[in-house]
Amino acid sequence: MTNYIPGFGNHVSTEAVPGALPIGRNSPQKAPFGLYAEQLSGSAFTAPRHENRRSWLYRLRPTAQHGAFKPYGGGTLIRSAPFDEAPPSPNRLRWDPLSMPTEPTDWVDGLTTYGGTGNVAEQSGIGIHVYAATCDMDRAFFSADGELLIVPEQGALAIDTELGRIEVAPLQIALIPRGVRFRVRLKDGAARGYVCENYGAPFRLPDLGPIGSNGLANPRDFEVPVAWFEDRDTPCEVVQKFQGGLWTTTIDHSPFDVVAWHGNLAPCRYDLTRFNTINSVSFDHPDPSIFTVLTSPSDTPGTANCDFAIFPPRWMVAENTFRPPWFHRNVMSEFMGLIKGEYDAKEGGGFVPGGASLHNQMNGHGPDQASYDKAVAADLKPVKIDGTMAFMFETRHVIRPTRWASESPTMQLDYDDVWTGFAKAKLPE
Ligand SMILES: [Fe+2]
Repeated sequence: MTNYIPGFGNHVSTEAVPGALPIGRNSPQKAPFGLYAEQLSGSAFTAPRHENRRSWLYRLRPTAQHGAFKPYGGGTLIRSAPFDEAPPSPNRLRWDPLSMPTEPTDWVDGLTTYGGTGNVAEQSGIGIHVYAATCDMDRAFFSADGELLIVPEQGALAIDTELGRIEVAPLQIALIPRGVRFRVRLKDGAARGYVCENYGAPFRLPDLGPIGSNGLANPRDFEVPVAWFEDRDTPCEVVQKFQGGLWTTTIDHSPFDVVAWHGNLAPCRYDLTRFNTINSVSFDHPDPSIFTVLTSPSDTPGTANCDFAIFPPRWMVAENTFRPPWFHRNVMSEFMGLIKGEYDAKEGGGFVPGGASLHNQMNGHGPDQASYDKAVAADLKPVKIDGTMAFMFETRHVIRPTRWASESPTMQLDYDDVWTGFAKAKLPE
């Protein structure tokens, strides 16, 4: 693995065979060893330099060498924007974790969609999926619809991509650019986790403003793989997601045949435990945007297509302050998942690792009764919140659940009850 900075335009050069990478030009008359030069563009050719992302791949055969894609019959629970199969709900929703499949199921067929926003055809919005897989992929997959932010909750993944191999375990994330082909193998026999399929502008590090040049997710901690390839002349299925549909074709060789590459568009890995958490050392606490790891901006400054925020272990020291996340209503919509431990606004139970919650635009939510009672009675010494990692996909658009999410037996029909017991405030007589 080598260092990479999402959205900062740094440039990686890597070759699996010495001499495979052309020097001084991207597309020489004949690339070394007869490799095929191919540009992978992740932004419009004319995007401003700081937005521009592309890599040059040098491969055994051009990607173009394949037959027609045909509709794929699997992946029956994956859905895509526009999400219109179930009415959007103003209700606070929460789900128990998805059970592991009883039949052998690979990562692609193990994808189930909670919901999402926007429109894939207009490159805006997100899809929110969970995966539950019990066997290795023996094929390749890519999404033409969006970048994939993979958040493991159970089981480490070995992700083989065209640009190299990444291993991610729970508490790490992987980011696979739109269009990059990959396969997922399971290091621990079974795996479960969350996926944000980002149809919009690629995720990047947020600006830091007055925080300065250090803090939150530090650029040096993002890692990209070095070039790696398979020289294999046996059939391989390639499944793609395109405008919401799944399509399949079979090629007569491994699609993982990139011998060298250079550029600033690449899959990467980040270890969430390296997040430099910043918070109040006096009173109150900043808005949860202080926990942003990556952001996908929209055309409106400061109003994200999607922010990926985490709630990691941290010290709570604020004086005369209600320390858990406060009650609030938000113009942005919030999907939360839990990777480990307990979330400090839901100490009453019900929000468990692998589960999920959805708090949509302008609907009130906040700490449950147990968290509230504990917080207002607490002796406010410095205290460490430990052994936990929750996350949020927060978006400017209302998150519309799928039919599966709306009707799933994993939905907790009593979720509203976590806020029903609050006693009325007492005014002076
Ligand atoms: Fe919230």
